[in-house]
Amino acid sequence: MNNLDQLVAQATAEFAAVGEPARLEEAKARYLGKDGSLTALLKGLGKLPAEERKSAGAAINIAKQTVESALATRREELRQVQLQAQLAAESLDITLPGRGERRGALHPVTRSLERIEQLFRSIGFEVADGPEIEGDWHNFTALNTPEKHPARSMHDTFYLLDEQGKVQEDVLLRTHTSPVQIRYMQAHVAKYGHLETMPEIRVIAPGRVYRVDSDATHSPMFHQVEGLWVGENVSFADLKGVVADFLRRFFESDDLKVRFRPSFFPFTEPSAEIDVAFMSGALEGRWLEIAGCGMVHPNVLRFGGIDPEKHTGFAFGMGPDRLTMLRYGINDLRLFFEGDLRFLSQFQ
Ligand code: DAH
Repeated sequence: MNNLDQLVAQATAEFAAVGEPARLEEAKARYLGKDGSLTALLKGLGKLPAEERKSAGAAINIAKQTVESALATRREELRQVQLQAQLAAESLDITLPGRGERRGALHPVTRSLERIEQLFRSIGFEVADGPEIEGDWHNFTALNTPEKHPARSMHDTFYLLDEQGKVQEDVLLRTHTSPVQIRYMQAHVAKYGHLETMPEIRVIAPGRVYRVDSDATHSPMFHQVEGLWVGENVSFADLKGVVADFLRRFFESDDLKVRFRPSFFPFTEPSAEIDVAFMSGALEGRWLEIAGCGMVHPNVLRFGGIDPEKHTGFAFGMGPDRLTMLRYGINDLRLFFEGDLRFLSQFQ
């Protein structure tokens, strides 16, 4: 093997041995660079005798081309290696099973509220709502609540602050849905004018209410459904019939026991607490409180613009969160409001 062949073999071997592009360029410089060995041979041509110059020049040029092409091949190889490494690092494993598309569903309390609305609509009730930020007058005064009643204290009720950060004594988060009674009566009277010819009021008002309270069975925000039926000769018997029938339909249980236990509310007289007892299941035979009710107090009718000499009415306020817990066997109210999918997805 002559010198040139040796040089070519050496260069090719060196190119093959390097693994990084920068090292390859260094190897190139050793042969083809300014001080490279092939470059030196070319420079040395001038010193050769004229008759040797031509063939030696041709041989060196062929060697140079061979080295250049080995270099180009190795460059391309290294580029491919690098590309493959990059692709592997950034790859997506399309064979992994997908996470799937989970369908959303209605919240269990929403489902109860829809069911409650549907059942009351079926016996001729309208569905109304009112503001969650209420005035002290609608929330307390018009509902016959005495000036110094404990429910009015900041201990029990969330009051709003004004822009200076001072407590506004007459603006609060409603503590019950009962103020909708007042709003609805007033709107009804405004709409139909004459009390004599006024159609009956039959309405439920579902919605959120707020109290300073928090444990396994109390949440600072919870739901209520208010009910109101005002007309001529509406009696406590009507109240019992409507509520008991609703509850049996809601729980799909004909032998559900319903009890009206005497109680007190400022806005009703007489007043009662409504208890239910199931005749089967885990809660069998236990009385559970689910609502308050009563005959609408004459003062409340008057605040609503209705003459208590001509009309009577009953009202109730029940807890749909509680009803939902009983219907589905849920024991902690807070589960409703934590947004945990492990809980919520059980109701799809
Ligand atoms: N507003 C009452 C409460 O939040 C519930 C209630 C009781 C509503 C009796 C009524 C009623 O309409 O007649 O505790």
